[in-house]
Amino acid sequence: MNEGIQNKVVLITGGGSGLGAETARHLASKGARIAVAARRKEKLDEVVAQIVAAGGEARAYQLDVVDKDQVKAAVASVVADFGRLDVLINNAGIMPIRPMAEVNTDEWDAMIDVNIKGTLYGIAAVLPIFLAQESGHIINLSSVAGVKVFAPGGTVYSGTKFAVRAISEGLRQEVGSKVRVTSIEPGAVDSELKFSTTGTAQSTVLDFYKIAIPATSVARAIAYAIEQPDDVDINEIVLRPTAQDF
Ligand SMILES: NC(=O)c1ccc[n+]([C@@H]2O[C@H](COP(=O)([O-])OP(=O)(O)OC[C@H]3O[C@@H](n4cnc5c(N)ncnc54)[C@H](OP(=O)(O)O)[C@@H]3O)[C@@H](O)[C@H]2O)c1
Repeated sequence: MNEGIQNKVVLITGGGSGLGAETARHLASKGARIAVAARRKEKLDEVVAQIVAAGGEARAYQLDVVDKDQVKAAVASVVADFGRLDVLINNAGIMPIRPMAEVNTDEWDAMIDVNIKGTLYGIAAVLPIFLAQESGHIINLSSVAGVKVFAPGGTVYSGTKFAVRAISEGLRQEVGSKVRVTSIEPGAVDSELKFSTTGTAQSTVLDFYKIAIPATSVARAIAYAIEQPDDVDINEIVLRPTAQDF
């Protein structure tokens, strides 16, 4: 079994942009073997090319996390290509902010599908592998909005991130002593996420994100969780811009 970051095989959903891409590059620079997965293959290929150019190892896997068969197939491909899997980072997510009164049920469905079900499908695909090999680490991207309700506008997003945090804690209690579980709870971080708000709250969100900190802040937090000895389980990390009130 590998300890630390060196040589660990890490699969990152939503690895083509934002926190996922930055985490991929950061972990690769520390010797991890990287698999990035998302819908836009060209974004994934860019990240892979950057990592390979820097002397690292990376591969791209196209998938939509709302399709559990695609998630299962991608995990199987990663194991076939790399020979094992050590860490899953359930990072794919969307954040369409909008007041509840506008009842945009399509956005509510999409957030539940990507942020909650996508995370669960990732867990479903790797958990049997991690339990069988008696090692593994599942890292889920919750949010400060999974610690405090982000309203008005972020109510359903917050609901999904509370769910991710609750699922992380329940999973931790259930998996026993060999599998590690971490919930990462960032505040405003610079990425493409703010652009997934397209409605009436768009300018408020773009304004709020003026205080955003770089994605490297989250990449370092994730590296910290992974690099601990196997018997140390970093369960939650909350980080936010010093300038963030919420
Ligand atoms: N940025 C922040 O302020 C912040 C704060 C707290 C938590 N977070 C969480 O951090 C995670 C990463 O977000 P980010 O800020 O890095 O935003 P981002 O740049 O928009 O990255 C999100 C990624 O998720 C992927 N994705 C979205 N839907 C998907 C689907 N159905 N299947 C597969 N991949 C999908 C996207 O790639 P494709 O479009 O190519 O599929 C994209 O690369 C999210 O879970 C977010 O909620 C972010």
